[in-house]
Amino acid sequence: MSAQFQAIAHHFSKASDSYLGAARLQQQVGYAALKLLPESRSGELLDLGCGPAWLHPELITRCHSLLAVDISAGMLTKARQQGLATRYLQADAAALPLSANCVDRVFSNLMLQWCSQPEQVSRELARVSRPGASLVITTLLDGTLCEFKQAFQQLDDQPHINDFLSASLLLEKMRSASPEIDWQLHTQTYPLTYPDVLALARELKSLGANYVVGKPSRGLTGKLYWQRLNAAYPVHTPDEQLVASYEVGFLIGSKRT
Ligand SMILES: C[S@@+](CC[C@H](N)C(=O)[O-])C[C@H]1O[C@@H](n2cnc3c(N)ncnc32)[C@H](O)[C@@H]1O
Repeated sequence: MSAQFQAIAHHFSKASDSYLGAARLQQQVGYAALKLLPESRSGELLDLGCGPAWLHPELITRCHSLLAVDISAGMLTKARQQGLATRYLQADAAALPLSANCVDRVFSNLMLQWCSQPEQVSRELARVSRPGASLVITTLLDGTLCEFKQAFQQLDDQPHINDFLSASLLLEKMRSASPEIDWQLHTQTYPLTYPDVLALARELKSLGANYVVGKPSRGLTGKLYWQRLNAAYPVHTPDEQLVASYEVGFLIGSKRT
């Protein structure tokens, strides 16, 4: 496992206890994605980047058997406590320890943005999916946390927010890596509100989503820093809540027969 994957897995494992209490975006997007999954009680469903498996009570009603995969050991421990999947595998989505043509449906909620090579994930999904398989994948896109990024830029030149792919580039990568899958993409903006920037930063930390590629780790900084960041934050509601936008991509695929 590369150092970057280890760091991502470590952040998510550390957050496995606090994750569910903070996962309001993940829940809104997860339920929306679920509606896109064909209803069928047969076949094997792969939940890729399953996290603590809060959606497994729903996913298990849409398959005969459920396979849960995550890179984080801590998340898989939580997922196992649900006890609804037949198998739990600690693995990288870009190198799945699965045989070819073994799954009938793939569900993946807000995992793909953590993969530096989505095209490799696309290739793996094409390999492990049976002809006729359906895939529903959500991910974060360019524009996510743009207000927070703008506020940070007023203070320093460090990277504080990860970069995300644009919808068109992501779709191009997915399509060219797995031409046997017919991929479609639609997007939706989810604006979430927070009392202040510290609450937003704490939510990201509780989710394990505070790992930023290339950022020196130095934890939360002093009171003055947060005051300046609050003052620099560009978008507020009339009642002084700040607004953080999340650009979500819904990738829907079907593998040709
Ligand atoms: C934001 S959480 C989403 C969890 C869950 N799907 C949900 O809806 O709440 C992202 C999950 O993806 C996992 N993850 C990140 N990179 C991964 C990779 N390369 N392969 C597999 N899982 C990965 C993380 O460990 C984490 O559990």
